[in-house]
Amino acid sequence: MKFGVLTGGGDCPGLNAVIRAVVRKGVKEYGYEFVGFRDGWKGPLEGLTMPLDIKATRGILPRGGTILGSSRTNPFKIDGGVERIQKNLASHGVDALIAIGGEDTLGVATKLDSLGVKVIGVPKTIDNDLNNTDYTFGFDTAVNIAVEAIDRLHTTAESHHRALIVEVMGRHAGWIALHSGLAGGASCILIPEVPFDLERVCSYVESRFTQSYAPIIVVAEGALPKDGDIVTKDASKDAFGHVKLSGIGEWLAREIEARTGKEARTSVLGHIQRGGTPTAFDRVLATRFGLHAITAAHEGDWGKMVALHGTDIKRVPLASATTQLKTVDPALYSEAEIFFG
Ligand code: F6P
Repeated sequence: MKFGVLTGGGDCPGLNAVIRAVVRKGVKEYGYEFVGFRDGWKGPLEGLTMPLDIKATRGILPRGGTILGSSRTNPFKIDGGVERIQKNLASHGVDALIAIGGEDTLGVATKLDSLGVKVIGVPKTIDNDLNNTDYTFGFDTAVNIAVEAIDRLHTTAESHHRALIVEVMGRHAGWIALHSGLAGGASCILIPEVPFDLERVCSYVESRFTQSYAPIIVVAEGALPKDGDIVTKDASKDAFGHVKLSGIGEWLAREIEARTGKEARTSVLGHIQRGGTPTAFDRVLATRFGLHAITAAHEGDWGKMVALHGTDIKRVPLASATTQLKTVDPALYSEAEIFFG
């Protein structure tokens, strides 16, 4: 049997660990062949491939990014896209696909599965917002990067008696903000799920200064004020209809300065959160996902996604992971509020 492997959407640390595990077990235990499809769904759409065997996947476990490349190509937005994929799979002798991705990439996989394409999904995203899995790989690495930044910002904020704002990724879900803010001892955490009251944020800033500390505010890029709107970079949208975010941090700094008279500055962590080597946790999770994905394929359990439930890797229907996002429960967020101000 021959498998095509692809990685789609925003890259994230651990993708190479999945690819390595899929190929290693697939070749050694089942005698399968593989081909790498380049740049997400663009690969099968345009027939862009690369060789994928044990040799090609040696040494990639600690490497960030993806050796296959990625893109946000949506074949359902392209005339005849699905037919082209089916034709290219046949012409490369590919029997089934291992699709590694987030909401968008696995959303495409879900639709292709319903059209008869044999596919197994592997959940990736630094945002941790895929449903029906406790964690996605990449999230732990992103949180650790953000926590290191927050630790460093604490000392410089205190030296200069400034309010420092850290803008982290998280379009619809505040997982990175919540976890990094809690672990980094933030004075306030703002997430998309709970619109914030600017006056209250300013009162946290002022109360932190009166205790002779400098406030650190962690804000997710998709957070929004109660009586305002989400801040976007520009009006353009990607193939899945997402606008480019970022800007809420700068907006907050301006508002805080104007309302409190305290100097406020913003650091936007951006793609730094997605780059570089995965943590040990993400390497292990990604490796286990890869091993279980190829076993699911071996058993012909198509249309499934491997998922972390507790400490076990389970198989769940692809659709259960992609039809709704896993957002932060406001009750969980309110646990953190005791540390605000
Ligand atoms: O989906 C992962 C993610 O990193 C989001 O947190 C972020 O909003 C988005 O990708 C940024 O995407 P891009 O790199 O395509 O601008």
